[in-house]
Amino acid sequence: MDKMLIRGGRPLMGTIQVRGAKNSTLPLMAASILAEEPCVLHNVPCLHDTFAMDKVLASLGMTIDFTGRYMTLDASTIASQTAPYDLVRKMRASFFVLGPLLGRFGRARVSLPGGCAIGTRPVDIHLKGLEALGASLRIEEGYVIADGRLTGADFALDFPSVGATENLMMAAVRAEGVTRLSNVAREPEIADLAAFLNGIGGRISGAGTDLITIVGVDALGGGEHTIIGDRIEAGTFLIAGVATHGDVTVQGVNPEHLPAFLPKLREAGAEVETQGNWIRARAINGFKGLDVATRPFPGFPTDLQAQMMAMLCVADGVSVIRENVFENRFMQVAELARMGADISLDGNAAVVRGVSALSGAPVMASDLRASAALVIAGLVAEKGETAVARVYHIDRGYERIEERLAALGADIRRVQQA
Ligand code: UD1
Repeated sequence: MDKMLIRGGRPLMGTIQVRGAKNSTLPLMAASILAEEPCVLHNVPCLHDTFAMDKVLASLGMTIDFTGRYMTLDASTIASQTAPYDLVRKMRASFFVLGPLLGRFGRARVSLPGGCAIGTRPVDIHLKGLEALGASLRIEEGYVIADGRLTGADFALDFPSVGATENLMMAAVRAEGVTRLSNVAREPEIADLAAFLNGIGGRISGAGTDLITIVGVDALGGGEHTIIGDRIEAGTFLIAGVATHGDVTVQGVNPEHLPAFLPKLREAGAEVETQGNWIRARAINGFKGLDVATRPFPGFPTDLQAQMMAMLCVADGVSVIRENVFENRFMQVAELARMGADISLDGNAAVVRGVSALSGAPVMASDLRASAALVIAGLVAEKGETAVARVYHIDRGYERIEERLAALGADIRRVQQA
């Protein structure tokens, strides 16, 4: 197991290229199950989660070739409709195969994912939606067993779940007739999935709004698609820049994909410039505390909450952070406190009192974004060394983060833990 050693106190400076969005890549890979001909994805990030999805699809019999930044997926060799527990438990997003398998083959057997560090994360909305489309579902030995040819229907989601919206879109694209999904998630990754499906013959409109209409088609072909830039990765590097009083530019991301986040950086006192596909944020003279509340898109992303908290630990003044999307997403708090942060928790709210400095400490990563927060805290810490253990969490969603932060001037290295 690797750990990350960080000596902080240096402002990050420079330009960094953002990779393709993890949260687009995983549903897009699953969506290629629907394609009767090969698909090519460009701008694929090299992440543990990408490889985990590759394993799930390969276990179904798909042929996948991942070279450089592009991936070819051939679903004509699928021989099984079962996604086993051993693979699904390692990555929840494996559950994305349920909708496309059912849509294309009229049957699927997919392990239920179970809970994870940030909450119980049920899949009830996915299942209710599939039933509304006419699937017959039963749970046996920890697996969802789904059968039936799907027919279009109207379905309103109880909550704009990103995963449920994607699973239902992928199922409905092959249903007979028209499906209208309301109260859906509006995240940019949903629009990216719709663009891919439409590119291979789907008929989906309204993705990016709260009502998506899908006209079912008999078959989908193949095609090529370029994955959008990762807005969460971009946000993480921008926060690291501001938190260290630096000047960081991220390239390869659409600034419109961060509509609530960029105004918050400005409100904190950072100078933020955007153009085309880049964003620059500087905070040479420091920054102040903020109130932040996470919400589904276009609200402040829950996936940037922990990193923002790490930054606000050394803000001038008091901040209040409310987590409204997941029930247990403050795993970073106890570790940040070990580095000298002053944070008190009250239900889904965290009050962060800015301190003048953090100090390095050995800390433990618990989930993907909490570990990014600990790396940022390590970069901020003015004294001592921070050792972040269990960095496999970070490798799930950031490609070689230490090399890329080092290119911005950070003193960070990865070592193998005994
Ligand atoms: C996706 C993202 C994740 C992000 C999250 C919220 C991927 C691969 N992951 O996760 O990075 O943090 O969106 O932006 O895209 N819920 C239910 N029942 C359901 C489904 C969800 O109650 O059937 C609840 C969840 O427990 C959670 C909330 O809805 O409290 C949001 O979850 P959801 O939007 O589904 O997140 P994911 O798709 O799992």
